[in-house]
Amino acid sequence: MRLVVIFLLLISSYCYGQRNERLLQKGWKFSRTDEPAAKQPSFSDKNWESVSIPHDWAIKGPFDPKWDKQEVAIVQDGENKATEKTGRTGALPHIGTGWYRLPITVAEQELEKVHLLQFDGAMSHAQVYLNGKYVGEHPYGYGYFYFDISSYLQAGENLLAVRLENPPFASRWYPGAGIYRNVRLISKAKAHIKHWGVDVTTPVVTTAAAKVRVQTQTNQKEGLFILQKILDQQGNVVASHQDQQSFQGTFDQYLQVDQPRLWSPDSPYLYQLITQVFQAGQLVDQIETAFGIRSIEYNRQKGFLLNGESVKFKGVCLHHDLGPLGTAVNKAALRRQLVMMKAMGANAIRTAHNMPAFEQIELCDELGLMVIAESFDEWQKPKVENGYNTLFQDWAKKDIQHLVRALKNHPSIVMWSSGNEVPDQNTEEGAKLSLYLRDIFHQEDPSRPVTVGMDQVAAVMENGFGAAQDIPGLNYRTHLYEDAYKAFPQGFLLGSETTSTVSSRGVYKFPVAEFKRKKYPDFQSSSYDLESCLWSNIVEDDWVLQDDKPWVMGEFVWTGFDYLGEPSPYNEEWPARSSYFGICDLAGIPKDRYYLYRSRWKPEAETLHILPHWNWAGREGEPTPVFVYTNYHKAELFLNGKSQGVRVKNKDSRLDRYRLRWMEVPYEAGELKVVAYDQDDNAVMTEVVRTAGKPHSLQLMADRREILADGQDLSFVTVQVVDQQGNPCPLAENALQVQVRGAGKFKAICNGDPTSLELFHLPKMKAFNGKLVVLVQSDQTEGEITLTVSGKGLKKQQLSLRAKTSW
Ligand code: GAL
Repeated sequence: MRLVVIFLLLISSYCYGQRNERLLQKGWKFSRTDEPAAKQPSFSDKNWESVSIPHDWAIKGPFDPKWDKQEVAIVQDGENKATEKTGRTGALPHIGTGWYRLPITVAEQELEKVHLLQFDGAMSHAQVYLNGKYVGEHPYGYGYFYFDISSYLQAGENLLAVRLENPPFASRWYPGAGIYRNVRLISKAKAHIKHWGVDVTTPVVTTAAAKVRVQTQTNQKEGLFILQKILDQQGNVVASHQDQQSFQGTFDQYLQVDQPRLWSPDSPYLYQLITQVFQAGQLVDQIETAFGIRSIEYNRQKGFLLNGESVKFKGVCLHHDLGPLGTAVNKAALRRQLVMMKAMGANAIRTAHNMPAFEQIELCDELGLMVIAESFDEWQKPKVENGYNTLFQDWAKKDIQHLVRALKNHPSIVMWSSGNEVPDQNTEEGAKLSLYLRDIFHQEDPSRPVTVGMDQVAAVMENGFGAAQDIPGLNYRTHLYEDAYKAFPQGFLLGSETTSTVSSRGVYKFPVAEFKRKKYPDFQSSSYDLESCLWSNIVEDDWVLQDDKPWVMGEFVWTGFDYLGEPSPYNEEWPARSSYFGICDLAGIPKDRYYLYRSRWKPEAETLHILPHWNWAGREGEPTPVFVYTNYHKAELFLNGKSQGVRVKNKDSRLDRYRLRWMEVPYEAGELKVVAYDQDDNAVMTEVVRTAGKPHSLQLMADRREILADGQDLSFVTVQVVDQQGNPCPLAENALQVQVRGAGKFKAICNGDPTSLELFHLPKMKAFNGKLVVLVQSDQTEGEITLTVSGKGLKKQQLSLRAKTSW
């Protein structure tokens, strides 16, 4: 057994010079109790569960309203009476105490080195022990932390133990539970580069040349020689520089890259910096840093400039959970989300409301998405009893320092955020606090500005809080944008959080009208995209501001994907356990709104999308509104060949400016067809929706047919129930079963229904409005994977995937 663990450790490690980094993923033992303040269950871990990291102990459920039931008035939502909020944090068993253990084997000669143990995040209140000795602790579940464990290690086997504790009333969404991000053991020579000790910036960027500044902190004041090399994507060395003169161990070097390829969302070009440290002619340490050459500027007249060009943020906010995977980090799942957002035309994300996973930011660098990296949802004043307010005093500075030090070299990050809707914003004291936090960010990183998402706009105009921000970020309150712009000195505003339109995928309600906080007996919201919360609005209200007010720098929509917890407007209803805000549902299936954003954010691509579905038996003859989301300005709708008229986008009408609407289509079964016209009235694109017959068979569509045989990679397979002619059945709720054979395994399943209590880790689930998604994971062997999906009365369907050891 030990041999297997060591082998697995080795394959997930890298080694440069004397530096070696291992991901500690396999071989862990785990045990938990529901008690938040429990002692270690038993010393023997014989009966503990075997798990691999990243791990979310609560995602297997079962869902139960008893978990973290919060009797609160959500003041931010305008409530003044406390009521019972059942699904606020996802109704999953994340409360309690968890213990993890891992044997770590270290060879005698390795003991001469320095060993750091880094946690990318652990939920929460981590206490770390090695060989029975207390090493240290870190309470914030999203914070990055590390310890020097050199003096605790012994030759041979060591035992690492981690205690985590999640108290109730500590979150406003599903926080997850456990060691949900990676743990790294970093071993390096006695003379070395300090942790997060390479700092790359590009202070001068022109098309002819870029000046790259590299500051490297070592732990030796003298006697070291340092060599920096910059490689392009072909592996050519495009600049290099050597130095043996440090200031107190820190080397400050400038390199010139001629005709640099600039990083941007359209062209996310990354260079590789290799930093090598020599002592007495020997290579003792080496770090590789991917970085981008780009300039950012926030300009009073022109707003945000990337590489000298004005760019508006087309952003989405993302919570950290990955739907059916819970919060356990998985790079394939993160990639899928980001790829989908890019394909919709998004150019940015905001990591609401906490430090992101490293993997997410690496992907943003690679795919070309700009990032606002956020730190906190609370400062001193609470939103929830056991939230960050209990940690702020002792930990805020350290948590920010770690955030910036760990992520500062990523070109994708264009702004930091120190907080989201912190209740402190209501006071002058809060304004001072915001300056204190801003200064910590600036000391660590003078190259980027800091924002705060502010929702108490009237207060922050008065008390100086808004004026104190580098970038004034407004959350909602579109009616106050004009006033805030005039009241603040900065000359621009950012929609740091916008919209919060609610909908359930594939659900359409009548009458079709705009509603605030509308509730229906089935606890779903309508996908006509006209429903929002008391404080929020529909898509158009933000777009009008962005189009008509040049000083609005763009927006970050709440949210790109549905997430576990916060089931507004059904916070008090059970079962409702995940959000309705997503542009995509919890399974990652696009809702209609996806195409509305695409039509505006990606105008160069053809978008023509019809809603609702056309299976309305019982509505015959009744007016049944049809909306079309398209990048074209004009279209004609036909029902069973009969024209329902032409619609043209109209700048002067709020609801007709960005969508085309036919409000009076008398329902009859058959075919709804829309034809889009270009500026010269040529018919350029057609889209059809048909009334479907009975469910007959299944269609399987994989986001990727080939995945890496690394035991982590995932293929997301969308399963759609179709009739005999292959038309999607938009109301189907067939119970489906899943089987995976060959070089992979079933990982999870999700149908995107915010009220479903079916479990994600069991290979069966009902379709929700005709669809669900199956996650298939590779093993560590190459070969064919066969997915079979079946359901009573349906023709079963198979799909072949392939796991490969390399591309
Ligand atoms: C905002 C808040 C988000 C989320 C959202 C729902 O006020 O910042 O975290 O709660 O409301 O609309």
